[in-house]
Amino acid sequence: MREKYYITTPIYYVNDVPHIGHLYTSLVCDVLARFHRMHQDAVFFLTGTDEHGGKIVRAAEKAGMATQAYTDKIAASFSLLADTYEISNDDFIRTTDARHLPAPVALWERAAAAGKIYKKKYRGLYCVGCEAFKTDKELVEGKCPDHGISPEEYEEENYFFKLTDFKDQLLSFYKAHPDFVAPAPRLNEVLGMVNELEDVSISRSRKHLSWGIPVPGDDDQVMYVWFDALSNYLSAIGYPDDAYKKWWPADVHVIAKDILRFHAVLWPAMCMAAGIEPPRQVAVHGFLTVNGQKMSKTRGNVVDPFTLAEQFGVETIRYFLMRELPFSGDGDFSEARVHERYVGDLANGVGNLLARVLAMVEKYEGGKVPAAAKGDIMPSWRAYEAHMNEYAFHLALADVWDVIGSADKLVNDRQPWVLAKTDTAALSELLYVLCESLRHIALMLWPFMPETAEKMFVALGVEHSIGTTALSELQQWGVLKPGTQVSRGAPLFPRHTTKP
Ligand code: MSP
Repeated sequence: MREKYYITTPIYYVNDVPHIGHLYTSLVCDVLARFHRMHQDAVFFLTGTDEHGGKIVRAAEKAGMATQAYTDKIAASFSLLADTYEISNDDFIRTTDARHLPAPVALWERAAAAGKIYKKKYRGLYCVGCEAFKTDKELVEGKCPDHGISPEEYEEENYFFKLTDFKDQLLSFYKAHPDFVAPAPRLNEVLGMVNELEDVSISRSRKHLSWGIPVPGDDDQVMYVWFDALSNYLSAIGYPDDAYKKWWPADVHVIAKDILRFHAVLWPAMCMAAGIEPPRQVAVHGFLTVNGQKMSKTRGNVVDPFTLAEQFGVETIRYFLMRELPFSGDGDFSEARVHERYVGDLANGVGNLLARVLAMVEKYEGGKVPAAAKGDIMPSWRAYEAHMNEYAFHLALADVWDVIGSADKLVNDRQPWVLAKTDTAALSELLYVLCESLRHIALMLWPFMPETAEKMFVALGVEHSIGTTALSELQQWGVLKPGTQVSRGAPLFPRHTTKP
């Protein structure tokens, strides 16, 4: 039976153009969305942009542009990033879209009706970078450790969300849903946060900020960006209209550790306040550094994904990011490592295997897949699927490279050029096993490198029918039909260059 699978990226701030950190999250979601489509699940994959708040206003001023024009421009570059990298999102929500408005308004009204919103005078230190008030404890030498800037002191009357009312409900929710936070160790961080819960300010005075959604019933106040932003996960699927129930609850919100508190504490509490089921899971990844350093504008080491696509090719970067960085921890990006992976894993690995096998099929079998022979690929599929389901993408790819390695070894051990003289029946069997292994490799690679997988299917002469044929059928050994005409085509990853 088909299951629904609703997956989201965070909506990215449009104060600046996208970098590889944003790309990484979108890529993880794309791989998962494709993996679920491969399983014939009904997938809804949402991404988008977070366009309100003081940070955006300042960035637009700095660029000398009107705020909306500026957000249009940056939102377009996030959308171009998705297109460039074959990100298969089904929708792209912007918090300045008219269709976004009803959800935050309804959430607010329902939380207010439930008595979870109150007004109070507030004085605090606000970090525009985080779009959040900071406690003294959170500052390092008076500065926000994440943004290196001194927070500004604000005193104003705000609306507050009674987050403290949800402590027990949150704790029992985590208990009842042990998979709510993945990977599991991150839940400890969340439990720590819940132990120090405070009510949160969820509006700003219009005096300080006008670029946002007006608070229902109080035009002098604008909604806090996080209240506005989190509701995108509902607005995009039609909330408050009942249609949202087709997709809600979200199956997974993929985020990095920097915004865990908002997603694993505030957001489920907001849902509870409005009488909505919280999402099923928040999957949290680490941070990407560049040559061992934190990416930052001041350091001048921000990596532009568009340049990378030109330099190395989209498929290489997709492979690198998913192979090199373990989802659960932090990972490092360096061009030298991309190059090493290109040569070692792509050109000399999968690219070489395909070219080598097809050349032999041409030479010894007249370009046609020989008669079927036995093989067993199920253990590899089981390992791969288990790793995919636990967000261990780097290990799932290692499983694929194990299959590639075994195929290479088989060629070296059996020496087909010798068999051609001594035992042509054994040679045909060997070539069938190699061709059929390549079909499985292409299938496993498809979520990660869709274009490479397509090229492999074309070379092998198969119509892959991913998404229309049950995966359990495609995973069988022996699907590749004897007699199929193969065609070598251009090398997948030429050796002389890092560009495809
Ligand atoms: N607008 C908020 C999110 C609102 S969601 C309701 C926001 N935007 S952001 O543009 O700052 O994006 C943060 C997200 O981008 C991180 O959670 C992560 O998914 C991704 N990354 C940004 N920098 C990153 C790295 N250096 N490394 C890995 N991912 C990073 O927060």
